[in-house]
Amino acid sequence: MSEIITADRRMRELIQLAKTVAQSKATVLIQGESGTGKELMASLVHENSTRAGRPFVAINCAAIPENLLESELFGYERGAFTGAVTSKAGKFEFANGGTILLDEISEMDIRLQAKLLRVIQEGEVDRIGGRRPVPVDVRIVATTNRNLGECVKEGSFREDLFYRLNVVNLTIPPLRERLGDVTLLSNHFMQAYSGRNGKQLAGFSTEALAMLESHAWPGNVRELENAIERAVITAKGSQVTAQDIAVERRQTDLLGAAAPARQDLGWAPGRTLDDIERSVIIEALQYHQGNRTHTARALGISIRTLRNKLADYRKIGIHL
Ligand SMILES: Nc1ncnc2c1ncn2[C@@H]1O[C@H](COP(=O)(O)OP(=O)(O)OP(=O)(O)O)[C@@H](O)[C@H]1O
Ligand SMILES: [Mg+2]
Repeated sequence: MSEIITADRRMRELIQLAKTVAQSKATVLIQGESGTGKELMASLVHENSTRAGRPFVAINCAAIPENLLESELFGYERGAFTGAVTSKAGKFEFANGGTILLDEISEMDIRLQAKLLRVIQEGEVDRIGGRRPVPVDVRIVATTNRNLGECVKEGSFREDLFYRLNVVNLTIPPLRERLGDVTLLSNHFMQAYSGRNGKQLAGFSTEALAMLESHAWPGNVRELENAIERAVITAKGSQVTAQDIAVERRQTDLLGAAAPARQDLGWAPGRTLDDIERSVIIEALQYHQGNRTHTARALGISIRTLRNKLADYRKIGIHL
């Protein structure tokens, strides 16, 4: 299992909580944006439980069509449907004594949700076409990058199942809310990929680091990992430079070239208070993914003031 690298206080608390609850059989729901490390957290729960020596079986509920998902999860008896020439155990049976990871649980069909609820309540699975239920002892960990509570409100997710899954909730913060981890993870991935590619790199240039820190990372740690892997491969010198780092510019990203590096937030000769204020506003907007209400609140100004300032910036060609 790879280690969760972090220096963030909230992350450290989450890891601590995960290790503590790992000891119980409690169902764990891991929420977080895509690429934040949900799968990593799920395996941490398994590895720290008494089930560590037993199977850890993962299945992605979004990747498999509904009828196939049912037979994958619950298994089937011979003759249960056309093509069922032999009987087959499902993932729950394979995971017996261990942990099952139900990835992207929000995508599970409502009918299968009822079957899953039964497994949780009764501790037994019904194979498709089976005559009697098969008892299983499985710890369930589910992940989702959607807000499952919202799915309940929308009617696409069963409320009773939600409560059964959400016994312990581990919500992983997005990378943009733990910017301190960007440098740490960048160095970690740089070392890992240098080794793998037979390269010897002595870190990042200041400009490269500033660029990494000012990116919004909508794809979170996975995006960062891919960016560093690419940078390590393309790096020609002894350091990774800004030119080596190709991050996709998205809407959440800032202004391209005008994006401020973090050190630009302070005064330097030639910078006016307006320049500094503008950098701070840009930085705050980026942090809040362009959400003006949140940005205004965070800066302690009214939304109206923020709008006026943004209108002023537009006049000088800065569109945010
Ligand atoms: N804190 C971390 N330390 C080291 N590696 C990490 C960390 N967080 C994530 N990773 C790495 O980033 C990649 C994505 O992590 P993971 O697959 O666990 O994310 P996820 O939340 O399950 O993503 P998705 O929603 O797309 O399924 C993996 O290669 C994982 O090893
Ligand atoms: Mg995942």
